[in-house]
This record gives sequence, C-alpha cells and structure tokens, in this order.
Amino acid sequence: MNRQSFAARYGPWALVAGGSQGLGAAFAAEIARRGVNLALVARRPGPLADTAAGLRAQWGVQVQTITADLAADGAADLLADELHGRSVGLVVANAALSPAGPFTALDAGRLSQTIDLNCAATALLAHRFLPAMIGRGSGGLVLVSSLAGGQGVPGLAVYSATKAFVICLGEALWAETRGSGVDVLVSSPGAVTTPGYRETATRPAPGTLTPADVAASTIAALGRGPRVIPGGLNKINAMMLSRLLPRRAAIAIFGRATAAALGEGPQG
Ligand SMILES: NC(=O)c1ccc[n+]([C@@H]2O[C@H](COP(=O)([O-])OP(=O)(O)OC[C@H]3O[C@@H](n4cnc5c(N)ncnc54)[C@H](OP(=O)(O)O)[C@@H]3O)[C@@H](O)[C@H]2O)c1
Repeated sequence: MNRQSFAARYGPWALVAGGSQGLGAAFAAEIARRGVNLALVARRPGPLADTAAGLRAQWGVQVQTITADLAADGAADLLADELHGRSVGLVVANAALSPAGPFTALDAGRLSQTIDLNCAATALLAHRFLPAMIGRGSGGLVLVSSLAGGQGVPGLAVYSATKAFVICLGEALWAETRGSGVDVLVSSPGAVTTPGYRETATRPAPGTLTPADVAASTIAALGRGPRVIPGGLNKINAMMLSRLLPRRAAIAIFGRATAAALGEGPQG
C-alpha cells in the first residue's frame, strides 16, 4: 500500500501504546514514514519527548505525547480525552510487562499489574477505539502478542498466559470486524532487541530480530490478518511448536530456550 492510501485508510492519527522505546518506537517510525500523525503513550515523559522529537524531525508529522499508566483504572477514557477529538485510525496495543522467574517467587502486585496492562488495558483500548473506526468504515488495530503466547512458558508463566489472551482476543476481533473496513492484526514476535528484552535476557535467542524488522513486517501485514509472525525462522519454529510437536515437548523446548536467554540453565 502506498503512503497516500495508507494515510487515507489508517490516518490521520495513530495511537501507539508504549510508544516511547523498543518495539513501540519502531512502530511509531514505521507509521510516521507513511505520513500519519502520532499519539504516543508511556509513563516516563523523558523517553516519550525524545522519541517524539526524533519523529517530528525525521518525518515532519505531528506527534502528541501522553504520559499515562495504561494499567490504571479509566486509562482508555483518559487517552480519548487527551486526544481532544482527534480522529484515530490506527491503534497499536504494544505496552506490556514481562516479569521473569518462577511463578511462586513473583511479587503478587507485579503479577496483577502485568495482567492489568497486558490483558485488561489491551482489551479496553480496543473497546474504546474500535467503534469509531467501524462507524467510519476504515481503520486498523494491531495487538502485539508474542511467540510465548503459543504455549505455557516456564519462567514466564504469567507473561505467556497474557500473550495467549492477546492472540485469542485479536483473532476474535479480526473475525468480528471482517467486512467493516477495519483491519485487526495480531503480531507474535520472537525475541526482539529492545530495552525491555535487554533488561531480562543476557543473550540473544535464535531468530532474534530488530524492532525495525518486526514493525516493518507487522505493518506490511496489516489487512492480511488475523496473525503475523515476523521472521522466517520464527515462522518455522512456531509451526513446529504448535502443529508438529506434542504439547509437553513444545512447553519444554520453549522453556529451555527462555532459560538460556535469561542466563539460567545449562547454557546460561
Ligand atoms: N522484546 C522482545 O523480545 C519481545 C518479544 C515478543 C513480544 N514482545 C512484545 O512487544 C511489546 C513491546 O515490548 P518491548 O520489548 O519493546 O518493551 P520495552 O522495551 O519494555 O518498552 C515498553 C514500552 O511500554 C511502555 N509501558 C510499559 N508499561 C506501561 C504502562 N503501564 N503504561 C504505559 N506505558 C507503559 C514503556 O514506557 P514507560 O516505561 O515509560 O511506561 C515503553 O514505551 C510488548 O507487548 C512485548 O510483549 C517483545
């Protein structure tokens, strides 16, 4: 799709949740280069301001920054207020937490925050912004999941469960919105070199991609939902894990790969 058609279908504004760094900032750049203005949401104002300034300078688009905790009650309504009636044609639900470690060792508050952000906030963003797009007969919704959502992942139990939620939510919304002019897409990346990944992982996993690669292949797949898996090796791995291997083997393999990336286990 060329720049003009993209802006007509998914503009004039796109909202990127968690748009200040990592994959969210890469989504913002991928969208800005197609001439769509951006509203970026995150909690820390500094990284938000830096990313916004870079996008304005490089692509000449308007960028609004919204400092908000998406896991807080009423966050989706607050965003809608902050947008002051701007027409949002594309929402990227990208913000997530990924607490690592044995389930019983995780702090209960952190666990609850992860479910609030990864599941509730994602669903509420979709619920808040989809109706206007459906009413206009055009728009897009990208829900960022993970290969970890394809099976339970020991060491990332809650994270993998929340990402399974995102896959099911997105697939259902894709089906519900078919024919409405609104494109819903779930993106399930493998490992991506983001600040968040570097905080938890000590080494790259096989098939690790850059944020720019993942954002580019996801945006290119918009309209071809329900789901995209960026990267050739990741597609093959996902097919093996979900279709060819017994469930318990898939859980064990993903768990070993995760332990190795986190610097635990025999390879760590
Ligand atoms: N990196 C990977 O290897 C990988 C693999 C598969 C899937 N993914 C998915 O890709 C997405 C982005 O991951 P990432 O690695 O780019 O993460 P990241 O580097 O940790 O960045 C997360 C972004 O979300 C914002 N954020 C976090 N909590 C928030 C909250 N409560 N309210 C508002 N904003 C919040 C952060 O800004 P503030 O901290 O300032 O709020 C930041 O902009 C996630 O959905 C993740 O599950 C990542």
